[in-house]
Amino acid sequence: MNSRERFLAAARRQPVDRTPAWMMRQAGRSLPEYRELRSGHTFMEMCHRPELAAEATLQPIRRFGMDAAVIFCDILVPAEAMGLAVSIEEGVGPLLDPPVRTAEDVEALRDFDATTATGFLAEALRLVRAELGEERAMLGFCGAPFTLASYMVEGRSSRNYETTKALMLGQPELFDRLVERIVDNSLGYLALQVEAGADAIQIFDSWGGSLDAATWRARMQGPITRMVRATQDLGVPVILYVNGCSHLLEAMVETGADVLSIDWRVDPVEAVRRTEGKVALQGNMDPVALFAPPDAVRREAQRTLAAFEGAPGHIFNLGSGILPKTPLESTTALWDTVLPERG
Ligand code: CP3
Repeated sequence: MNSRERFLAAARRQPVDRTPAWMMRQAGRSLPEYRELRSGHTFMEMCHRPELAAEATLQPIRRFGMDAAVIFCDILVPAEAMGLAVSIEEGVGPLLDPPVRTAEDVEALRDFDATTATGFLAEALRLVRAELGEERAMLGFCGAPFTLASYMVEGRSSRNYETTKALMLGQPELFDRLVERIVDNSLGYLALQVEAGADAIQIFDSWGGSLDAATWRARMQGPITRMVRATQDLGVPVILYVNGCSHLLEAMVETGADVLSIDWRVDPVEAVRRTEGKVALQGNMDPVALFAPPDAVRREAQRTLAAFEGAPGHIFNLGSGILPKTPLESTTALWDTVLPERG
């Protein structure tokens, strides 16, 4: 099996010769060659320039040889295409302007044509495929509506999403309209990525786990299900990632996603039991475990692989993105363990 076949087989709960593996935030962040490439460019400029985005996507594959490449881009790119100014500030994180808080703000958002507004992403995917070849999987992605809405409403990163939840509960029709506009625009954006060669799509609901299960189910499950179905209709599997999802597993299964990406707080054996064979699982090593010495990292990676042995399909990953200051020797030990052809 080549990497692409292995990845797609696991996503579809078919037999594999070994567990396929990639890592969230593998493109950018922790590699010295990324910091080199990034110097002299803003982060959004990196996203907009296909040759830079393609290079950042390929760097981790060249160094480690994961089974899948995830395109270098950001979940905030569609917010920019909808008319907000987006920047990533050192030490602050994302800033979006103007924040979206009133009915006028929601209606002022643009419906964008993906090819015109985000053609740079399609071009980056095509450049990656040309170098990656047909043997490895290439992943596209987008943000889930609650996560994207939280950035659009707060205008920046937030610990508790106070303004977002106040809007969600206090002005439900307005909030649901914002969610609808996000989803409407995400569908064309996802289709663009599939047409440009993405083999699978991951939906990042990074902050959805901050909602109680009843609220997530009532307000977010429907819109996410729409995104899942529309993407599956294009012929590719969908991975649904929710950070802090232990209370949401059953509701996530109901979206019809092919793969649930789970964080390290969920016990893999329990996740297999609760998802009843209906989905493949991705995850779930603690990214902070990579700050331990290489021997400990090897043990943790083995333990993660073993814990998912009963899963109908498993894709190895971390439980959330790799952290910027992760020591390179531990990351190398991880890939030496998980990709046997390296070890
Ligand atoms: O996984 C990958 O490597 C693909 C590329 C990717 C990035 N962001 C690149 C990036 C992906 C999939 C994302 C998703 C994303 N972006 C999420 C979901 C992530 C998760 O783990 O749940 C979120 C919440 C965002 C919004 C965002 N973008 C934040 C909060 C930040 C600042 C983080 C920081 O490290 O300061 C970004 C910037 C960003 N996106 C960077 C990268 C590589 C850091 C860029 C840099 O400064 O060079």
